Amino acid sequence: MLNQALDHARANRGRYLNQLFDFLRIPSISTQAEHKPDVQRAAEWVAADMRRVGLTNVQVVPTAGNPIVYGEWLGAGEEAPTVLIYGHYDVQPVDPLELWQSPPFEPQIRDGLIYARGVSDDKGQMFIHIKAIESMLSANGRLPVNVKLIFEGEEEIGSINLEAFVLSHREMLAADVSLVSDTGMITPDQPLIVYGLRGMCYMEFRIKGPKRDLHSGGYGGTVYNPAQLVAEIIAALHDEKGTVTIPGFYDRVRPLTDEERRAINSAPYSLEQWQSETGLRKPWGEPEYTLHERIGARPTCEVNGIWGGWQGEGGKTIIPAEAGAKISMRLVPDQDPQEIARLFAEFVRERVPDDMQVQINDLAGGWWAITPLDSPAMRAASRAYEATWGVPPVFAREGGSIPIVATFQKELNAPAVLMGFGLRDDAAHAPNERFREDHFYKGIDTVIHYFHYLAEQR
Ligand code: BES
Ligand code: MN
Ligand code: MN
Repeated sequence: MLNQALDHARANRGRYLNQLFDFLRIPSISTQAEHKPDVQRAAEWVAADMRRVGLTNVQVVPTAGNPIVYGEWLGAGEEAPTVLIYGHYDVQPVDPLELWQSPPFEPQIRDGLIYARGVSDDKGQMFIHIKAIESMLSANGRLPVNVKLIFEGEEEIGSINLEAFVLSHREMLAADVSLVSDTGMITPDQPLIVYGLRGMCYMEFRIKGPKRDLHSGGYGGTVYNPAQLVAEIIAALHDEKGTVTIPGFYDRVRPLTDEERRAINSAPYSLEQWQSETGLRKPWGEPEYTLHERIGARPTCEVNGIWGGWQGEGGKTIIPAEAGAKISMRLVPDQDPQEIARLFAEFVRERVPDDMQVQINDLAGGWWAITPLDSPAMRAASRAYEATWGVPPVFAREGGSIPIVATFQKELNAPAVLMGFGLRDDAAHAPNERFREDHFYKGIDTVIHYFHYLAEQR
C-alpha cells in the first residue's frame, strides 16, 4: 500500500507540479480588497481539485470575509485515526514588485527553486497534502486514516473568521490530531518539527494634530509635529538594550526553565546563518538571550510601517496634519493578546496631548501555541521525516504565528503537528519567494509516510 502510493506520487510529479503552477497563478492576496475575486477564485480552484481527487463533502463556505474550503474522506473506519489538515490559500502582497526577478504570479523554476508569491507560504505546502491524498486514493483506492481538510483565505490577516467557524463546527472538525504544513526546516538536510509558535497583537495608531498641513516656516517651532510624536512614541517602546518598555508587557511571560533553554538552543542555528540570511553583521536585541531564544521564546515589539508627511519627490516644507504607525507584537506563553492590546493603547494614549487626536486600531490578534512532544502523532511525524529525509527531525520553537493552531488544540482537544517543508531562506512575505522543487515532492512522500505510520500506531 505504502509503496504503491509512493510510486504513484513519483510517476505523477510533473502533473502535480503543473497543477501547483495553475494554483500559484491566482493572485489570492488577502490584504488587498481589489483581489477579493481572486481569493474567491483560489478557493474554488482548491475545492475543484479536492473533488477531483476523490474527497467528499467538499464545500466552499462563505464567511464575513474570505471563504473556508472544507473536504473530507472518512472511509478508513471508526477505529482509524482522524487527521484534520489545515493550510491557507491566501498570500501576502507582492510589493516591492520591481525587485522580483520573474513576475510573482508567473511561476518559474530556476536552479531547482520554484519562484512565485505564496509557493512556500503556503500554497505549495498545503497542496502537498492534497497530492499525498490523491496518490494514496489513486494507488490504493483508500487511505489508512480518515482525513478532514480545512483551508482558509485569511491567515495572513489574522484568521479573522476561522475561529468562529471552528467553534460552531466542533463535530464536523473533530479529529485526533491536526496537521499543519506552514513552517520551515532548518536546512534542506535537517527537518524540523516546530513545537511552539508565538502569538500576535497587531496594532495601528494614527495621530492627528493641526487641522491641515501647515507651512513649516509659518508654524514650525510652535506646533507639536504629529510625525515627531509618532517617532517619539516608537522610540519609547524599547530601552537601549532592546527590552520592551510598555508597562506590564512582561508580567505574564513564563520564565524559561534551564531544561527548556537547553532544548531550544540545541537546534542548529548559527550566527553565520543569521548573517547570510539578513545581510547584516550584528544581531540586535536582548543580550541575555540567544538568537534562538529571542526568536522562539521571547516576546517582541516591531515597527512594521510608519508614515506621515511628505514622501514624494523633492522637498515640501510642511508640518503634516497626520502621522501614524503599524506595530506588531509577538507574544509568548502566558501573554494574553487582548491584555497586550490594552496596555499598548494606554502607552500610546498617555503620550498624546489632549488637543491632538489619536485613533488606535486592533488589526489582528492570535494566541501562541505549544504542542506536546510526546504524543503518538508526534512519533509518527518523526518516523515519517526520517523515512523520507534519512535523518530524524529536530524540535524547536518558532517565531512566527499561526493563530488557529491554539484554537485547534483548545477547542478540538487535539494535539497539533507542525510538519513544515519550507526554509527560512524561502523569502516568505518578501520579493522572489521560492520553494525547493524537491521539497514539494519529498513533502508529498513525507505525508504519505505519515498517514501510514499514524494508522500503524493504532
Ligand atoms: N507561515 C507563517 C507563520 C510562520 C512563519 C510560522 C515562520 C513559523 C515560521 C504564516 O503564514 C504567517 O505569516 N503568519 C502571520 C500571522 C499574523 C498575520 C497574525 C505572521 O506570523 O506574521
Ligand atoms: Mn503561512
Ligand atoms: Mn505568512
